Amino acid sequence: MTDRILADTSAPRSTASRQAASHGGSDTDEQWWRRAVIYQIYVRSFADGNGDGIGDLAGVRARLQYLVDLGVDAIWFTPWYQSPLADGGYDVADYRAIDPSFGSLDEAEQLISEARNLGIRTIVDIVPNHVSDQHPWFRAALASAPGSPERARFWFRPGLGEDGNEMPNGWVSNFSGPAWTRTQNPDGTPGEWYLHLFSAQQPDLNWSHPDVRAEHEAVLKFWFDRGVAGVRIDSAALLVKDPALPEVPAEPRPGEHPNTDRDELHEIYRRWRAVADSYPDRRILVGEIWLPDIERFTKYLRPDELHTAFNFDFLARPWDAASLRTSIDSTLAAHAPVGAPATWVLSNHDVTRPVTRYGQEDSSFAFATKRAGTPTNVELGRRRARAAALLCAALPGSLYIYQGEELGLDEVQDLPAHQLQDPMYLRSGGADPGRDGCRVPLPWAGRCSPFGFSPAGATGEPWLRQPDRWAELTVEAQQRDSGSMLSLYRRMLGIRRSHADLRDDHLRWLPSADDVLAFARGERFLCVTNLSNTSIELPAGCSLILASVEVTGGLLPPDATAWLHSESNPTQHRTLQFRTQGGE
Ligand code: NOJ
Repeated sequence: MTDRILADTSAPRSTASRQAASHGGSDTDEQWWRRAVIYQIYVRSFADGNGDGIGDLAGVRARLQYLVDLGVDAIWFTPWYQSPLADGGYDVADYRAIDPSFGSLDEAEQLISEARNLGIRTIVDIVPNHVSDQHPWFRAALASAPGSPERARFWFRPGLGEDGNEMPNGWVSNFSGPAWTRTQNPDGTPGEWYLHLFSAQQPDLNWSHPDVRAEHEAVLKFWFDRGVAGVRIDSAALLVKDPALPEVPAEPRPGEHPNTDRDELHEIYRRWRAVADSYPDRRILVGEIWLPDIERFTKYLRPDELHTAFNFDFLARPWDAASLRTSIDSTLAAHAPVGAPATWVLSNHDVTRPVTRYGQEDSSFAFATKRAGTPTNVELGRRRARAAALLCAALPGSLYIYQGEELGLDEVQDLPAHQLQDPMYLRSGGADPGRDGCRVPLPWAGRCSPFGFSPAGATGEPWLRQPDRWAELTVEAQQRDSGSMLSLYRRMLGIRRSHADLRDDHLRWLPSADDVLAFARGERFLCVTNLSNTSIELPAGCSLILASVEVTGGLLPPDATAWLHSESNPTQHRTLQFRTQGGE
């Protein structure tokens, strides 16, 4: 067992050599999406090019080399379209325009092509369940009478009760509170109600209307024609509603929920797949699908539907070996029959940052239980987040990285109340802390805010306050430190890209103690994660490729992952033992 971390493979390579070595960026690789590393950019908080304190496309364009050096294959942009930003851009007013605070359509086109020239593909976010209340369709609907064709694109209904004062049904918004808002007639009297599964500024579209279907297919083509390699589909399991709008049964049977996971959705995605497949080079569809039933989940991934969907089960799990193993096994088992690759996601712009999550006594994640003021051991959380990153990156499938995850940023839990703007916070009356804490602008350089997020001489402050402690976590500081989270991510992605054993779709579990996850990929690659509270003796016959902590004396300490090269052949792996010290 060697004691040192192997040579640093993270040194930036030239674009040409990068493309040659790439299994994700090559133009000829039809299968790039099956193993890709996809970096999520929340534009408002990535980098501010014009100094107004809000991230923008100029900021992204200036930082593309950072993403090349990190080693990603694609970028997914959260919505960058014209929007009042009532829900951070998931309230789209015009799909064919960029929000002026982010830039222009011209700049978006340049960005897509500059990234592509650097070997990085672009994925845009499509939000089909709802539009902004400022979208021309909804404005026209409000200006038209009940029963008009303009209203038929949405879910307008008269209220119940004598004066129509009661909501058409008792559905609850995903952002808490009622899913219905009442309109006003031109004479000021109360009018019909409209449905919104999210905020009142996000009216739900009626997907049985042909205009709604045709418009979204046209939007897909609009962005595919501009060179994007794929789309991420927001709230993909919610579009279709039972037109009778019945109450939600206490325990709906599969396919019988009136607003989630309805069988009619599959036909919509088959049509979208046909649009994607009508392009000569591969364009992919990625679903945002939160469903507890994994069999129902993978139905969306049949060969003529979506290419992949986010696997949120893993990130919702606590830091516990049995639970994570169950998640890995059930994910891979459910994906295999449909031939779709799994996805691995530790964070995104909706969930508590992993460093914070894993530093809390209950390290599982659920929107329903998210509360402010939970005691957090950030040091422990960061150590586990490093281990989780290496674990996920070794699993078969594609990998998503949310901006700032590679810096080990923690959730900012003490933002000034006047800055909080997430509807989850506002609509819950503050009971839910909301998602602003994982959306704070990135720290790039320097010792104080804006930490290089905005250029020198900026006129605006970052739109959410950056904590002073992030001085230690800037890209600049971490680049200098070979032990930093950023250095770990660079090495990890470099090895993941070039290691032949990480290309197949399988893993084989190896004998280990209960609190240890050990598996092999390909001929010689092993990954071992220690979730116990004692060290593991790494077996003889293995050399260390990379570890989330310093490994000395052949011992892998608790809350750590190591990638190993096995000198024995795969049939002998069964004899490798990953025992905890003094344990079985
Ligand atoms: C899921 C998105 O990730 C989230 O940010 C958004 O608020 C909802 N969908 C509604 O669009």
